[in-house]
Amino acid sequence: MTKTELKLWVASSPKVELHLHIEGSLEPDLMMALAEKHHLELPYANIEEVKNAYDFENLQSFLDLYYFGASVLKDEDDFYQLMWAYLLKCKDDNVVHVEIMFDPQTHTERGVGFDVFMPGFKRAMQQAEQEWGQSCLLIMCFLRHLTEQSAIETLNAATTYLDDIVAVGLDSGELGNPPEKFTEVFKMAKELGLKRVAHAGEEGPADYIWSALNALDVQRIDHGVRSIEDPELIAFLIQSQHPLTVCPLSNTKLKVFKHMQQHNVLQLLDLGLMATINADDPSYFGGYLNDNFFAVIDHLPVEKHHLQKLIENSFNASFMTTEHKIKWLDKIATY
Ligand code: HPA
Ligand code: ZN
Repeated sequence: MTKTELKLWVASSPKVELHLHIEGSLEPDLMMALAEKHHLELPYANIEEVKNAYDFENLQSFLDLYYFGASVLKDEDDFYQLMWAYLLKCKDDNVVHVEIMFDPQTHTERGVGFDVFMPGFKRAMQQAEQEWGQSCLLIMCFLRHLTEQSAIETLNAATTYLDDIVAVGLDSGELGNPPEKFTEVFKMAKELGLKRVAHAGEEGPADYIWSALNALDVQRIDHGVRSIEDPELIAFLIQSQHPLTVCPLSNTKLKVFKHMQQHNVLQLLDLGLMATINADDPSYFGGYLNDNFFAVIDHLPVEKHHLQKLIENSFNASFMTTEHKIKWLDKIATY
């Protein structure tokens, strides 16, 4: 198949997305509209200037703009609009199931509580489920640059919304904030019946992936591309089949890899790790899920069987029910 044919095939296939920060899907036009609605000053005159600012050196330079951007989200309808805009992209990209991360502390720290953002998220998710059968779950992430105590307070503040949350996650600045800093709160989350995921091995070393597995007992690793530096870890991940939620455009934008041609997702897949493709923060990194597949198709020696495996992996790696999983795996097997 030609690259064009591979792209058409991927675009029309049903897919799953497992690593998507809802705050990272805030498009410049919605950011500007919300700033105007709430009479907030932004340091950008127009959408072009916002886009030009998205030129990052590393993870931290992105996070500074990402947390700033989220400050325009203030009332229930803002969070509804944010979620609704992303779910419309899922419909366009044939993303039939999505596990969406959100960062409560980014909002609670500026006085916007669970009773504001959760009803907004839920209203959009219910509408998408009703209108076109969109399947979605929520993952609540703790900011690792803050204390474990703050994460525990966040878990406690979520008590009345636990039925709406499938898992906890760990994001923000990785270096200097190893997973084991959050051992206690992840243990509490497990006791509450929540699944666990954590960003590890994006900028941080392979040791952080071991720590996420051993101290936090995670079901999936977000990013995990630096696992390649540790042969023992690679052997473990091949055997255990812990999924990696890899984000190609994010990794090149944040200079984890200099160029897409150097990205190791195909290498990980060919070695037998359970790699998946995801968008991370699509508004900041230049593309939604299909764009991430297209970038990989453009720059790496991808064949159709790779794409089939990546898509199948994300269904298998998801937290959807077994019944739901079997139904979709049957469907994509004949696709
Ligand atoms: N890494 C860490 N924190 C994040 C990311 C990421 O890729 N995206 C949003 N928060
Ligand atoms: Zn991420």
